[in-house]
Amino acid sequence: MSPSQTRTAPTTALAVDYRQPTADDGMRLWEIASDSKVLDVNSSYAYVLWCHDFATTSIVAEVDGHPVGFVTGYRRQTDPSTIMVWQVAVDDNYRGHGIAGTMLHRLLDRTQRSGVVAMHTTISPDNAASQRLFESVADARGLRFERRDLFAAEQFPGAHEPEDLYILEPTVSEF
Ligand SMILES: CC(C)(COP(=O)(O)OP(=O)(O)OC[C@H]1O[C@@H](n2cnc3c(N)ncnc32)[C@H](O)[C@@H]1OP(=O)(O)O)[C@@H](O)C(=O)NCCC(=O)NCCS
Repeated sequence: MSPSQTRTAPTTALAVDYRQPTADDGMRLWEIASDSKVLDVNSSYAYVLWCHDFATTSIVAEVDGHPVGFVTGYRRQTDPSTIMVWQVAVDDNYRGHGIAGTMLHRLLDRTQRSGVVAMHTTISPDNAASQRLFESVADARGLRFERRDLFAAEQFPGAHEPEDLYILEPTVSEF
């Protein structure tokens, strides 16, 4: 997850549908990730497999039947009450319409029904847009929002920003 992007106010209301991905969405997710020029782009196979095996913890946003954004996530093996967001991206032409925020809210709403109470993600220090996105979701849901060190730059080959852990969790008394 990397650098900040400029942001302009939306001029039109969009009709957006939100749904679980299927394996057929994998190629388009790979395309959105590649086009973002910001995300670490995984193999096309990784996205196809993810859409197949982690559909219940992932979501796609589509306009006129065409995917324009996605969130990929999984439940932590050591703590299934936490959904870990791996990647979130919205096609450049559709940013600023609240699509990313809505995807995260819908994902939390859906997974809460099977016991998820918290959301984690990693964000690089230079990605202000992503930090604001998750902070905004935490604020709207009354969740605690906290940053912790996780992966240092030295843990990656070549030039890579650190990946900080961001935690969106109920305050202890709500558990
Ligand atoms: C980050 C990204 C997913 C946001 O998508 P989006 O649909 O435009 O976001 P939303 O419209 O839902 O905005 C959600 C919140 O984030 C804030 N935000 C979004 N983009 C922002 C930006 N460039 N700068 C500052 N804040 C930003 C919005 O103001 C909003 O906060 P608010 O509720 O307080 O108003 C999109 O810019 C993107 O795909 N970037 C490239 C990939 C990436 O960096 N992904 C995140 C790391 S995996």
